[in-house]
Amino acid sequence: MDHETIGSEDWDELILNLEATIPVYDRINRFATIGQVDKWRRMVRERLPNEDAKILEVGCGPGSFAENVSGVELVCLDPSVLMLEAAKPRVNSKRQQRGESEVEFVQGKAEELPFEDNSFDGACSLFSFRDWYDKRAGLGEVLRVLKPGAKVVIVDPAKMNRMHGVLGWLWMRFWVGAYARIICGVKDHPWKWLTKTYVTFGTTRDYVRMMEDVGFDNVTAKVVFPGMATIWEGRKPES
Ligand SMILES: C[S@@+](CC[C@H](N)C(=O)[O-])C[C@H]1O[C@@H](n2cnc3c(N)ncnc32)[C@H](O)[C@@H]1O
Repeated sequence: MDHETIGSEDWDELILNLEATIPVYDRINRFATIGQVDKWRRMVRERLPNEDAKILEVGCGPGSFAENVSGVELVCLDPSVLMLEAAKPRVNSKRQQRGESEVEFVQGKAEELPFEDNSFDGACSLFSFRDWYDKRAGLGEVLRVLKPGAKVVIVDPAKMNRMHGVLGWLWMRFWVGAYARIICGVKDHPWKWLTKTYVTFGTTRDYVRMMEDVGFDNVTAKVVFPGMATIWEGRKPES
């Protein structure tokens, strides 16, 4: 694993471990982010276009973000069938309560998006980019499927420099790890992958550069309170 790629064996194991988190995903996520995760999700929603826009969420997981997205046509993609099976009833029952049409769920990977060029008015990815096995290829695919001028919004860990990375590692390894051990009731809990993917995750600045290299314009990165997450944004050039 490095800050761009995850080898296929590691990635397969990562997906199995992510699937094992489904029953406790939101509970541990809230604990790990000291309750900030809902605010970060709101910040992503506010940055995406609304009013009849067609939005793609890459790596929707069990639907924790998608369930509260309203007023747009949403397409949720994930490589894991188990994640999609968890997300579908959860998200669509909320949509039904709001009188909205169902979300389209698609099995697929960021690196090979099964969509036509220029199909979406916006795209987002929350706590998934770190897990993409080829981040550069995935960003290239997101760029391809966005319409000219459309925006991508990504949230994942903040790592401003080496020292910040060490603090983040300590937090995940000991604080989140201890809680996950208690909640999951086993020492060898699936949340250990949170630490593993963080170790090789690049800095906030690395991914600004990668987004620019891939072809996004107006790339920005904001480290959000309390310094645990970054929100990256970029636009597909108009021409
Ligand atoms: C931690 S969950 C994130 C769930 C959700 N987006 C949220 O807001 O909490 C990460 C998801 O990314 C998915 N994922 C991992 N690798 C991926 C890839 N290469 N392309 C798309 N999704 C991927 C996993 O299957 C998993 O469901």
